[in-house]
Amino acid sequence: MTGKSQVHPADAASIAAAADVLRAGGLVAVPTETVYGLAARADSAPAVAQIYRAKGRPDFNPLIVHIPDLAAAERIAIFDERARKLAAAFWPGALTMVLPLRQGAEIAPAVTAGLPTIALRCPAHPAMRAVLAATQLPLAAPSANRSGGVSPSRAEHVAESLGSAVGLVLDGGPCAAGIESTIVALRDGGWQVLRPGPITGEQIAALLGSPLQPEGSAGIEAPGQLASHYSPGKPVRLNAECVGPDEFMIGFGGVAGDVSLSPSGDLAEAASRLYDCLHAAQRATQKRIAIAKVPDEGIGAAINDRLGRAAA
Ligand code: TXA
Ligand code: MG
Repeated sequence: MTGKSQVHPADAASIAAAADVLRAGGLVAVPTETVYGLAARADSAPAVAQIYRAKGRPDFNPLIVHIPDLAAAERIAIFDERARKLAAAFWPGALTMVLPLRQGAEIAPAVTAGLPTIALRCPAHPAMRAVLAATQLPLAAPSANRSGGVSPSRAEHVAESLGSAVGLVLDGGPCAAGIESTIVALRDGGWQVLRPGPITGEQIAALLGSPLQPEGSAGIEAPGQLASHYSPGKPVRLNAECVGPDEFMIGFGGVAGDVSLSPSGDLAEAASRLYDCLHAAQRATQKRIAIAKVPDEGIGAAINDRLGRAAA
C-alpha cells in the first residue's frame, strides 16, 4: 500500500477486516482506553518485525501483549497470587503486568526482546476487545506512533505519525484515559512500578503492600522509558506560570494557555487531553512550548513522567 493509511470507524465490518489483516500477519492500529496501539499477532516473528520497522523502534525495547482475559494470560505467563489479585482488581483495564514468560508459550522472541519476562495487558476498550475476540490471538501492540514521538490519543494522530506504514486504522474516537497503562513488575521479593499510569502506585500498594523501591527508579528494566521520549520536536519549558516569546502555552487550572490540559484543574481530564495538547503544540507555528505546572498527585505523577520525558 502506498500513500496514506485508511481510517475507518471501528464498526463490525472494519473489525472483521482488521481481524483478517492481523491473522494474515499485517498491522492494524486499534483504539484502546489508554492510547491507540499498533497491533500485530504476537506469535509471528515476521508480523512483530513489522511493528519495529513501522515505528522505527529499537529492537531492545520489548512490546506489551494484549489478551482478552486471565485464562489467555495464564497460557503465556506464570501468575502467582499477587498477579491474580491485580488481575481481579484492574483487568480489563489500564494495568500491564510484567511476569515470568511461560516456557513453550507461542510468543515471537522479538516481543520480549530476549527477556525471560513478558508484559501482559487485558484492555477494556470495546473495539480492542472485539478485535481480540475475532482474531483469537494474543496481539502485541505498542503505542501507534513513530518511536520517541508523542503518543496517539486519536485516530488522526496515528495517521499523522505513521502514514502509510499502517494500512488500516480503526477509529474509536478519543481515548478515555489518554495516557499509557501503568506497568508493574512482580518479582520474587516484591513489586515495582516501571511506568506510572492511570492505575496509581497507591492503588497497587493497597492490594500488595509497599513497593520494593520508590516508583520510577527501576531504570533499565523498562528500556522504553528512555529519558527522551514523547518528544514534540521543540524545546519544552515545564512549570511555566505565563507564556514567553515564541512559545505555545499549554495551560492547566488557573494558568491559561493557547490550549489547556484542564481549565478546572481536573487531573483525569488533563491526562485524557495530554497528547492532544502536545500534538497541537507540535503543529503550532511557535518554535517553543511552555507547560503549566501539574500537581504530582494520583494520575498527575504519570502526566509529569511523560512531560519530563517530552522536555528531555
Ligand atoms: O497503554 C499501553 O500500555 C499501550 C496500549 C497500546 O496498550 N501500549 C504501550 O506499549 O504503551 P509500548 O510498547 O509503547 O510500551 C511498552 C513498554 C515499554 O516501556 C517496554 O520497555 C515495557 O513496556 N516492557 C515490555 N515488556 C517488558 C518486560 N518484559 N519487562 C519490562 N518492561 C517491559
Ligand atoms: Mg510508546
